[in-house]
Amino acid sequence: MRRVVCTEWGPPEGLQVQESPDPTPGAGQVLVEVAAAGVNFVDALFVAGTYQIKVPPPFTPGSELAGVISAVGPDVEEVVVGDRVLSSIGLGSYASHAVLPARSVTAVPDALDLATAAALAQSYCTAWFALTRRVQVQPGETVLVLGAGGGVGLASIDVAKARGARVIAAASTAAKRADAQAMGAEAAIDYGTEDLKGRARDLSDGGVDVVIDPVGGPHTDASLRALGPFGRLAIIGFADGTIPAVPTNQVLLKNRSVVGVDWGAWAMANPVDQAELLAEVLEAVADGRLHPVEPTQRPLAEAGAVLRDLLERRLRGKTVLVP
Ligand SMILES: NC(=O)c1ccc[n+]([C@@H]2O[C@H](COP(=O)([O-])OP(=O)(O)OC[C@H]3O[C@@H](n4cnc5c(N)ncnc54)[C@H](OP(=O)(O)O)[C@@H]3O)[C@@H](O)[C@H]2O)c1
Repeated sequence: MRRVVCTEWGPPEGLQVQESPDPTPGAGQVLVEVAAAGVNFVDALFVAGTYQIKVPPPFTPGSELAGVISAVGPDVEEVVVGDRVLSSIGLGSYASHAVLPARSVTAVPDALDLATAAALAQSYCTAWFALTRRVQVQPGETVLVLGAGGGVGLASIDVAKARGARVIAAASTAAKRADAQAMGAEAAIDYGTEDLKGRARDLSDGGVDVVIDPVGGPHTDASLRALGPFGRLAIIGFADGTIPAVPTNQVLLKNRSVVGVDWGAWAMANPVDQAELLAEVLEAVADGRLHPVEPTQRPLAEAGAVLRDLLERRLRGKTVLVP
């Protein structure tokens, strides 16, 4: 098998591709031939050693994949060789093969290609968890999505639209804003040059109901101030690199709420609830309520360059690594 290895924490250019014998699944495990590995922001944080969970090198990065089961170990009854599956595996998906617990894989619906399936779970489960479980978006509400051309951003637009909300997108380039509008956003703001608070208020009749914030930095304060009465600000991540301080007087005003969204830790601690949530997402994809975009495909050996592109905001939508 081939796999990408992080031999020391640091910039993604330090990643290496190594060959090793194909692994054999043990009891309760399956061997998956990886068709595609989803690229996510957290992968770059693991490689840099700056994520809240620090994994000592050497390790193979990559938190999700889709592929075909090529062998099963003893005592596996859930799946058989040839099944198309996806999995959120935490680490180890940047590889040609992965050994996984049989209970950690989920069947990929027939309508979904494996590349799209590989890039779906983390972004869509985060967006679905945020909008349905945490801020409980209602039909007719207005949702402002920051980082709208990224993975969580595009998924949030799709989920908000599927729940009957209207969406204002904020992103840094015309191409990302066009992607967001193609996904269903009714208006778009260039938050690099425009007044985010003023434009969001103008576009929403005085204040938005929900903000989806995977970016942080100065945009968090501006979008908190763009919230109308009983508005909710969902804190999802800090792609900007700066964790903002929140002025609590702005939370008090208009009875606003700031809501934490830690889908990753919640999913690990609540596997049954996570399975239910993923099933809801896949059902909505299968029946056409959700529309995940086809990811850009790059070779596995370009893992370092892809993570560099992600860190420098050059990626649009989702990207997968293909072994
Ligand atoms: N809480 C959770 O459970 C959870 C789950 C998944 C992801 N996350 C977090 O959510 C954030 C976004 O994840 P994602 O998968 O959507 O990432 P992504 O696809 O790379 O998108 C992130 C977006 O952030 C914006 N951005 C602003 N400053 C940036 C910078 N300095 N470097 C990179 N991007 C920057 C970019 O949009 P513009 O260029 O338009 O500004 C980019 O499109 C990450 O912090 C991730 O760790 C959290």
